[in-house]
Amino acid sequence: MIEVHNLTKRYGAHTAVDDISFEAHPGEIVGLLGPNGAGKTTTMRMLTGFMPPTSGTARIAGFDVLTDSLAARRQVGYLPERVPVYPDMTVAGYVSFWAKLRGVRNPRARVDAVLEQVQLTDRRHTLVRNLSKGLRQRLGLAQALVHDPPVIILDEPTIGIDPQQVIEVRDSVRALGQQHTVLFSTHILSEAEQICDRVLIINRGRIIAQGEPAALRHQLQPGQHLYIQIAGASRGEALRLLERIPGVDSVRADDDGYRLRARPDVDVRGEIAERVVKAGFRLLELRPVAMTLEDIFLDIVGRGS
Ligand SMILES: Nc1ncnc2c1ncn2[C@@H]1O[C@H](COP(=O)(O)OP(=O)(O)OP(=O)(O)O)[C@@H](O)[C@H]1O
Ligand SMILES: [Mg+2]
Repeated sequence: MIEVHNLTKRYGAHTAVDDISFEAHPGEIVGLLGPNGAGKTTTMRMLTGFMPPTSGTARIAGFDVLTDSLAARRQVGYLPERVPVYPDMTVAGYVSFWAKLRGVRNPRARVDAVLEQVQLTDRRHTLVRNLSKGLRQRLGLAQALVHDPPVIILDEPTIGIDPQQVIEVRDSVRALGQQHTVLFSTHILSEAEQICDRVLIINRGRIIAQGEPAALRHQLQPGQHLYIQIAGASRGEALRLLERIPGVDSVRADDDGYRLRARPDVDVRGEIAERVVKAGFRLLELRPVAMTLEDIFLDIVGRGS
């Protein structure tokens, strides 16, 4: 549904999106995950025809965004980072305005259907200026959905809204995934993990990792991570002891204890316990630590810089 090949965008000498390629299939929710300035918005603007690529190609439902831009745009609904709002319009008026702009047939019925879908029917006569940020976001979603496009592109839809509304927006994104191909961006790892079928991690304009959230975690986090507390040993003694254990890749001090990474194929726990006791120290704690995607992300983003 979305096919991107070697897409690049330069602003002068600065490369904002650097030779990225990916696909999103029908019914798939794909997350574009990356920190500030990674190139998420730039990518989305090229896919939605707001900005031409410097090089490379992108197709939406088979239509090239550059050479067949009108047809491509018809296939996609876009919720931009900042939703353009017309404060003096009513909710229904706003959606109806977009329906006409999009050339929707039978706009009245469609507006009703979309307001129902984003649960704004009871606000249809409310002025846009009086909507909370979260409701405005839903209105933006209505605008993106009004022409019933197969592809929906959402740029950080949960940014700046309160936690309850974040949950609602995440639910609507998930629900959209049943009927549409969805590409959405976020810089929140747990959000990508919760919502997406597949995640693309983008940093400095490049896709540095991609896959199913669980597989990605596995792939990016080889080995086991343990937390250990030892009493009676100096920091130097403990570090030396732990580093010498076969299978241990790295050890570092962490709070009152130590974080240790070991090869995935060796269970080092027995050996740790035995050596600590033998050396005359006491083992206070030994437990696996689950690395969050956040840790992993910081780890790879850090390595890339
Ligand atoms: N119109 C522009 N002119 C020049 N540089 C730009 C322009 N728009 C974006 N950039 C630069 O391109 C890079 C990518 O920006 P982009 O907005 O795509 O990132 P982003 O991932 O959406 O970030 P954020 O999480 O802050 O929204 C940044 O370094 C940004 O400063
Ligand atoms: Mg952005």
